[in-house]
Amino acid sequence: MSCPFTNAVNSLLFFVGGTLGALSTAKIINRKLLSNSGGNVTEFSCTGNPQVLVAGGAGYIASHTIVCLIAEGYDVTIVDNYVNSNAESINRVRQITGCERSRIRVYECDMCDPKALENVFRTSQQFFAVIQFAGLKAVGESVAKPLLYYENNLISTFNLLRMMEKYNAPNIVFSSSATVYGDAVVPITESSPTGNGITNPYGRTKYMIEEILKDWYKAQNASKSIVTLRYFNPVGSHPSGKIGEDPSGIPNNLMPFVSQVAVGRRPHVNVFGNDYPTPDGTGVRDYIHVMDLAEGHVAALKFIEKQWIQTKQESGQYSVFNLGTGSGVSVLEMIKAMEAASGKTLKTVMAPRREGDIATCYADPSKAKNELGWTASRNLQQMCTDLWKWQSDNPQGYTSA
Ligand code: UFG
Repeated sequence: MSCPFTNAVNSLLFFVGGTLGALSTAKIINRKLLSNSGGNVTEFSCTGNPQVLVAGGAGYIASHTIVCLIAEGYDVTIVDNYVNSNAESINRVRQITGCERSRIRVYECDMCDPKALENVFRTSQQFFAVIQFAGLKAVGESVAKPLLYYENNLISTFNLLRMMEKYNAPNIVFSSSATVYGDAVVPITESSPTGNGITNPYGRTKYMIEEILKDWYKAQNASKSIVTLRYFNPVGSHPSGKIGEDPSGIPNNLMPFVSQVAVGRRPHVNVFGNDYPTPDGTGVRDYIHVMDLAEGHVAALKFIEKQWIQTKQESGQYSVFNLGTGSGVSVLEMIKAMEAASGKTLKTVMAPRREGDIATCYADPSKAKNELGWTASRNLQQMCTDLWKWQSDNPQGYTSA
């Protein structure tokens, strides 16, 4: 399929936040994606760069991923409704990457609204791939409002898949979570059982979407590539400190909470349980630097590209990868590491176990290493140093801007 001039004109007309002259001055990276694959070559972008739709692109992991995508020569279209994110993150991504505005297009859009989502596909160049980050993710809220979580996370994904069918977007990377494993035996491999012992509706939406994607893959006669990435515990920020995690309200997760204590927004850290069967009695998790995680998405896209070149765009595949470090770190160790990075003494208070928590969770990341050529390279000190840079430069998150 070619890249018709009318599409380019439409893209310009609907380009939010850009200038009409932007496309003409866009740096053209002569990447020739797939052009050496022979046969009928599909062009995915008038600029020569493959277009990636980043659903939920203003969020924490997505914004870091976009920095890596731009560096690797992908152009990005962001869809976000800013329910749980801040448009300022996109301005910051633009500052970090310094790329032409036309390489990051933005649509404010609720993906549960099929017409609004269709407008994005209709007015964009063909997407080489979609990365589905969009979704509600607060565990506790999902217990209180299960219908909201099922409705939002599933319907937005259904709408996305329908648009991918209608507009021939061939590939998808799905943001899943280690939560799909429930309380599995560690280290957790991709073939560990999923769907058992998930303690909350948020986690079940991840599991359900994985199952839906498998059925959809079969129904497309394996013509599309699907990569499901199961994240362990992302922490840290881009080393510039310009983008980072900015939870609304009281943070649910450990490290955003700890960093808010370090910056003086909260008086102490509650340690939820010190009687687990772990070396120091506190919960053990596989914390991964968000930039490593972001690079994992690029590795997934390259994996898809390679598959397309090898099969001359004739068949895709369904793959699942753990993105973790393979090492477990306890709550108390994380607090200590943050004390070292921030130079602050952090008050801790022992509290009862949190309902639904498990003792230990860490990945076996060897499949991603072998098949994607990806490993997490940043250590705990870098995670905490970069987190502290973000939190100390932006004590109130993006609203400090
Ligand atoms: N913890 C505290 N105090 C806090 C917050 C957390 O002691 O204020 C403890 C928890 O009890 C747990 C550890 O810190 O032992 C990590 O808790 P997080 O909430 O940071 O992370 P979880 O492992 O519970 O869950 C996270 C995401 C899920 C995802 C899961 C995948 O929130 O969405 O990782 O492993 F599914």
